[in-house]
Amino acid sequence: MAVDYRDLGLVNTKEMFEKALAGGYAIPAYNFNNMEQLQAIVNACVETSSPVILQVSSGARNYANEIMLRHMAAGAVEMARAKGSNIPITLHLDHGANFELCVSCIEAGFSSVMIDGSAHSFEDNIALTKKVVEYARPRGVTVEGELGVLAGIEDEVSHETSSYTKPEEVEEFVERAGCDSLAISIGTSHGAYKFKVKSQVEVPPLRFDILEEIEKRLPGFPIVLHGASSVVPAFVDMINQYGGDLEGAVGVPEEQLRRAAKSAVCKINIDSDGRLAMTAIVRKFIAENPKEFDPRKYLGAARDALTELLKHKNENVVGSAGRA
Ligand code: G3H
Ligand code: 13P
Ligand code: ZN
Repeated sequence: MAVDYRDLGLVNTKEMFEKALAGGYAIPAYNFNNMEQLQAIVNACVETSSPVILQVSSGARNYANEIMLRHMAAGAVEMARAKGSNIPITLHLDHGANFELCVSCIEAGFSSVMIDGSAHSFEDNIALTKKVVEYARPRGVTVEGELGVLAGIEDEVSHETSSYTKPEEVEEFVERAGCDSLAISIGTSHGAYKFKVKSQVEVPPLRFDILEEIEKRLPGFPIVLHGASSVVPAFVDMINQYGGDLEGAVGVPEEQLRRAAKSAVCKINIDSDGRLAMTAIVRKFIAENPKEFDPRKYLGAARDALTELLKHKNENVVGSAGRA
């Protein structure tokens, strides 16, 4: 039996994006795969009074099970309400690779899906995105499409190189595909190795000229920025200090994300930073507490650090704090 996301207290992204566009901030879209990540996301967003998009990738779905993840998201809503918070919460499929996966998530209670047709030709991407929109719209589920290719590797979507979104294609794509938001490629990439530079100081600016051109062509239309982790140097250093090897890991400087959040970019995707924070704290905790073997101790410490990091993102990077 299909589950209606509204019965779980979830919302789609429509109103969130309208407010974010009008208010000059972005909604954080945080990936989760397990309970500690989800607790950190919900606690951070409740404490900062921020709307939030909970993202589930195909990898997360394979790891934790779609039904389990839906119940966890419903639990997150209930937990927020029990804390007296009414923050809007969306459950979103990240990088849906095909129509069947989007349908499965919609039927399972997701309130938003991404269909990532960016690896296909322009025409095939339009046809695939349109097919998902036609299924999702009558069910009140919002759809994110993608035009342009980000470098980096995801579980189901893999690209060696990036190609920036061509501004001259966006109007036709959005008009014909009918998607509710559009992910674009302006120089970010997935993972912890975004730029081949020696330090964060040398990171080249994102292609704000392309973003501005897209904004001109699609006035008032919600744009999505993937690959938006900053790859926080303090956590990279901590991982390396406690036995890890993340030489050359570099992300997008916060200043550039703040600038993007003030533009038509109204959804900012962050996954790697959460992974790095948890890994850094777990490594440090285990190294410093060799007699400890209770997972609650090291996962609890990792969860607390992640909560603080996400509060910082809401308050100082995406600007969503106080906007719920
Ligand atoms: O965009 C990719 C996300 O970081 C999800 O990564 O596919 O390894 O879960 P994953
Ligand atoms: P990061 O790897 O930069 O966190 O990007 C995550 C993302 O885009 C998820 O869709
Ligand atoms: Zn992504």
